[in-house]
Amino acid sequence: MTRTYMSGLGSHFATEAAEGALPKGRNSPQKPPFGLYAEQLSGTAFTAPRAENRRSWLYRLRPSAEHPPYRRYEGARLFAPGTSPDPLPPNRLRWSPLPMPEAAADFVDSLVTMVANRDPADLEGVAVHLYRAERDMEDRYFFDADGELLIIPQEGRLDLRTELGAIELEPGEIALVPRGVRFRVLLPDGAARGYVAENHGALFRLPELGPIGSNGLANPRDFLTPEAAYEDREGRFTLVQKSLGSLWVTELDHSPLDVVAWHGNLAPFKYDLRLFNAIGSVSYDHPDPSIFTVLTSPSDVPGRANADFVVFPPRWMVAEDTFRPPWFHRNVMSECMGLIYGDYDAKAEGFAPGGLSLHNLMAGHGPDVASWRGASEATLAPHKIEGTMAFMVESCWPYRPTNFALETEALQRDYDQAWGGFPKAQLP
Ligand SMILES: [Fe+2]
Repeated sequence: MTRTYMSGLGSHFATEAAEGALPKGRNSPQKPPFGLYAEQLSGTAFTAPRAENRRSWLYRLRPSAEHPPYRRYEGARLFAPGTSPDPLPPNRLRWSPLPMPEAAADFVDSLVTMVANRDPADLEGVAVHLYRAERDMEDRYFFDADGELLIIPQEGRLDLRTELGAIELEPGEIALVPRGVRFRVLLPDGAARGYVAENHGALFRLPELGPIGSNGLANPRDFLTPEAAYEDREGRFTLVQKSLGSLWVTELDHSPLDVVAWHGNLAPFKYDLRLFNAIGSVSYDHPDPSIFTVLTSPSDVPGRANADFVVFPPRWMVAEDTFRPPWFHRNVMSECMGLIYGDYDAKAEGFAPGGLSLHNLMAGHGPDVASWRGASEATLAPHKIEGTMAFMVESCWPYRPTNFALETEALQRDYDQAWGGFPKAQLP
């Protein structure tokens, strides 16, 4: 399968994998070319404002409505199990990378839900999952009715085959699969691990730039959407979906990736985080981490994100008389962080690539003693943070960990010690 991409986030694309498959001028002609079936995929309500409205028209070999009833799916037992109903201690939490599963699993079966907030039926909230896959999804397909999936590889490439085209993805890049879009995941390197942020709320979009102007942060042209590509496969296939927080499966006698042509502005995309145009202070003080927002999913309250996807990329630090790592802070927003590669500048150790941390609302956190001391005494000269890519999924809804996340050996039960040993300030 060749992979070619079109550039621009939210653009209206038109693409066909067979010449003449895309109807001209009419979305649902009485007889689409070649007997294809026309189907609209809506990512926003029909009546959403034009600037936010996302939908695409798919022209496919068979209607996606053609399938037997779904029944409960018994695989992927750690994916979407619900969160702990017990009172949640307001402790800061951090996890080491999970070991690979004992039995090799494909992308879907390897998913482990770590933290989540809200009920998917609220159409708000976000969950963070980890995947640790060692098998291709040969005859299995998946879609998420509960939200769009932001896939963040940490180790190993992914070959995403989606209804709307194929995306090859490597660590340092992210991909987004819209709610409802069927896909399967192949592993060109034989194994892969990483993170998935599942957004139940308003679609991820680029943040407003305000006084920054018309350029900067993630630029629209760097978002790549695949051209149409389809599978014409017949046989025995399973289609798993996540719906209202649980997993369901049905059988198909053909591949659901049979969209030969499509047009519209709802589509998967990928983005290379290394292209992020980081903006920061060139005088004194460091700005809030919102300056590193790649994508945002707004809530109904202005300025309060349902989910912000934020990266901490390589960048120059030049501000005078400034403590440069994240300062101590307590936040009304809840912060779930991961590390793709390198070191994170607020922690000397313990936060490893593939690990995860959770600082829920009003949890005091910040640098550890070694990072605080080093940054307090650093000579004030331009300094470049290199070879690192950390990220945060920040949400206005406090996260709740799953029982697995609270019970796993990977939970660092001594995490609070990261903030032990600070010397008391001395008044004159
Ligand atoms: Fe923080």
